[in-house]
Amino acid sequence: MIEWLFGPPPGGVPSDPGTWLSAAELERLSRLRFEKRRSEWLLGRFTAKTLVAGALDRRGDRLPSLRSIEIVPEPSGAPFVRDVVSGTRLPVSVSISHSARRALFAVVFTGSPGPGRCAVGVDLELIEPRSDGFLRDFLTAPERAEIAALPERERLARANGIWSAKEAVLKSLKLGLTVDTGKVECLLTPAEVPDPGDLCPEGTPWRRFSVRCAPEILPAGGAEMRLLGFWREEAGYVLTLAVAVG
Ligand SMILES: CC(C)(COP(=O)(O)OP(=O)(O)OC[C@H]1O[C@@H](n2cnc3c(N)ncnc32)[C@H](O)[C@@H]1OP(=O)(O)O)[C@@H](O)C(=O)NCCC(=O)NCCS
Repeated sequence: MIEWLFGPPPGGVPSDPGTWLSAAELERLSRLRFEKRRSEWLLGRFTAKTLVAGALDRRGDRLPSLRSIEIVPEPSGAPFVRDVVSGTRLPVSVSISHSARRALFAVVFTGSPGPGRCAVGVDLELIEPRSDGFLRDFLTAPERAEIAALPERERLARANGIWSAKEAVLKSLKLGLTVDTGKVECLLTPAEVPDPGDLCPEGTPWRRFSVRCAPEILPAGGAEMRLLGFWREEAGYVLTLAVAVG
């Protein structure tokens, strides 16, 4: 199961970061100059740490203090979780997204006896107008056709949803927007999608989306990889979650 949180957690982000960020995270915060970036980074970190701590607790591990786990970027920018005391990486895959004062975070345990090699990617988008130029430049012809086939009132959310799904998939592959978004195709009304097994988001049901990727953007041996996609709408936002398995 994939645990997820549409943040901020109840009660919001505590005003004193010193009470819940590690020393290294406080140093990183001090280097963030722009208020918008600082507040979204804090929101993402607090949402992430709250869920990771709760997930460890639910698995029967000790409940860590938020200062004792840190969310660290890899050189690609993709986040991972580190135990501050031992300096070791936790056996989880995580992903963060922020949009318009909300954050989305997901965590899945990757170690035995869990699902093995899998990586999660999430994206959050406020449902907002997208220009024809944007759709032409960043969506594939089948993706645009899916939007065009919908009643007018559903098109805006779907355009944001397809864009978000592509970002979630690219995050699950740790690529982000470093590759042409035409190399990933996501259809939110899929004809058929792989069985997720027990690898699906926990709790409230999500809808499925299909994913097709150009082979050249997959890691070595990626032909065997399964890409699973999930989406939902909530409070004027679209939430997407992708998992790369194998
Ligand atoms: C990663 C990217 C898709 C983020 O998209 P966005 O819509 O601007 O922002 P979102 O809020 O949805 O996601 C941001 C989060 O994505 C994560 N992220 C960044 N790079 C990532 C990657 N290669 N793979 C997976 N996740 C990544 C980070 O956790 C980041 O949040 P944080 O910086 O607060 O930790 C996009 O910024 C990108 O690819 N940029 C180009 C590559 C780049 O500049 N990488 C940074 C190198 S340090």
